[in-house]
Amino acid sequence: MTYDSTRIMETLKEATAEQHRDAERRQLQREMVRGELAPETYAAWLGQMFVVHEALWEAIAARESDHEPLATIVVDEGLHVGHLRADLAAFGIDAEDVAPLPSTQLAVQSIALKSESDPLSLLGYNYVLEGSMNGNRFIARALQQVPGISAMSYLDPYGEEQRSTWQAYRARMNEAGFDEPQGERMVAAAREMFAFIAEMSDDLMREAVAA
Ligand code: HEM
Repeated sequence: MTYDSTRIMETLKEATAEQHRDAERRQLQREMVRGELAPETYAAWLGQMFVVHEALWEAIAARESDHEPLATIVVDEGLHVGHLRADLAAFGIDAEDVAPLPSTQLAVQSIALKSESDPLSLLGYNYVLEGSMNGNRFIARALQQVPGISAMSYLDPYGEEQRSTWQAYRARMNEAGFDEPQGERMVAAAREMFAFIAEMSDDLMREAVAA
């Protein structure tokens, strides 16, 4: 099929559809949607997500002056990092004290490498984290039932504006005019991020069992 830059978001979705189905089936995510997640596992998950989001946001902020699409597409001003910091604080955890799991360290290293070698591919990573906000709203509703979990600003950052925020994000990506090789590298990055999060989710559940 001929490459069409105005379909980059459809391409990303199609290329990662299987990984998304897999992500929904992971034990951590299943326990989340069933409202069965232990508060300490939720807090541990927030900590790891903080490390990934902070690394990505800092990389994007550092490279946006010489790679304009980073600035025009990622317009949230580090919103998720702030939310994660606040949600962790509600558990009495200082975000800066979070120790990254091996899978999280791998994600951070890959973000640093992409930031040097191909900054626009950071948008593939960002697609996964921003896209996950679509499902996070459902998770927030389920976790509301869990005693001991009340801090959910990360999971539901946009409230009723979720759909319109996502549609606007999609439009900015589709209008940016990425060429085919760039699009392919972005897809590869999105696949990597799905894999990092899957691995991290499994690591967290292993830790929860061991605890
Ligand atoms: C129980 C877990 C999950 C549920 C219930 C869920 C649910 C959803 C839903 C309902 C959508 C919107 C689909 C649409 O309107 O087209 C969505 C989109 C998305 N989710 Fe998830 N999700 C889950 C886990 C995850 C995880 C763990 C990730 C990332 C690692 C993720 C990444 C994404 C992405 C990138 C999109 C955007 C897809 C697109 O391009 O339209 N999701 N999810």
